Amino acid sequence: MASQRPLAVVTGASVGIGLELAKQCVANGFDLIIASDDDQLESAAATLRQSGAEVKTVQADLSTTDGNDELIAAIGDRPVDALLANAGRGLGKGFLDQDFDQARKVVDTNVTGTIYLIHRVGNAMRTRNQGRILITGSIAGFMPGSFQAVYNGTKSFLNSFSFALRDELKDTAITVSCLMPGPTDTEFFERGDLMDTKVGVQKKDDPAMVAEVGFKAMMNGEGDVVAGWKNKLQSALANVTPAPLLAKAHRSMAEPGSAN
Ligand SMILES: NC(=O)c1ccc[n+]([C@@H]2O[C@H](COP(=O)([O-])OP(=O)(O)OC[C@H]3O[C@@H](n4cnc5c(N)ncnc54)[C@H](OP(=O)(O)O)[C@@H]3O)[C@@H](O)[C@H]2O)c1
Repeated sequence: MASQRPLAVVTGASVGIGLELAKQCVANGFDLIIASDDDQLESAAATLRQSGAEVKTVQADLSTTDGNDELIAAIGDRPVDALLANAGRGLGKGFLDQDFDQARKVVDTNVTGTIYLIHRVGNAMRTRNQGRILITGSIAGFMPGSFQAVYNGTKSFLNSFSFALRDELKDTAITVSCLMPGPTDTEFFERGDLMDTKVGVQKKDDPAMVAEVGFKAMMNGEGDVVAGWKNKLQSALANVTPAPLLAKAHRSMAEPGSAN
């Protein structure tokens, strides 16, 4: 018999904030389709299945249209009650020193892949006039990110996009929420080659706390949520600080060698 539980789709759910978001979903009665591009996805699924939820996995590169189409095919006709568009990647070092293909992959994953998936799933939600969308933006989107310039630009895009889409859908029953974490203790910094930076080695937020805050905001239909009081303060200050000063402050956190 087909499952009667609501369905959540969580991208980037193999590890980190995405895995914790997926745990929130199963703890709150959702079945899951989870996606990422690595082998750790299956062990994440095994953990999540212990809750009794139905958990489907899609191993695909979500920086590509084909990868997102694989995920959309796995969803099939089943209505998506919640889309948690969380997959993302960072990339440290000065822009001109980055490998351009890696920089492009940051844009293709964080921006193009994310909005393509939201476009496809969002249209199905609009037809049914029902659904919740949670986008993982970042407080990094409030600052020009010296030595993470491309990444911060993608998060600035997502923060802005989320508010715009929410407004466009204000007369529907679909909610769009943006989770804006600060530095969080995940594999993000190692994967982004940021372990020689101050932000890479500093004490960070617990991903389970961040995910709980984000999940609750999504369920309450809130527009945005910054996880943690320090990050709330930092994002409030960012709104009134000139961009050159923000870029300078970012340099002190993300410049290679700043860990020392
Ligand atoms: N950690 C932080 O300090 C922080 C702060 C603010 C916002 N965020 C955002 O939070 C989200 C989750 O990051 P995290 O901190 O949990 O990092 P993480 O531990 O590195 O997890 C990232 C997840 O995204 C997936 N992913 C990345 N690129 C992908 C691709 N092309 N195709 C499919 N899956 C892909 C990864 O799987 P693969 O193994 O397949 O790459 C992984 O499941 C990201 O959007 C990040 O920008 C993080």
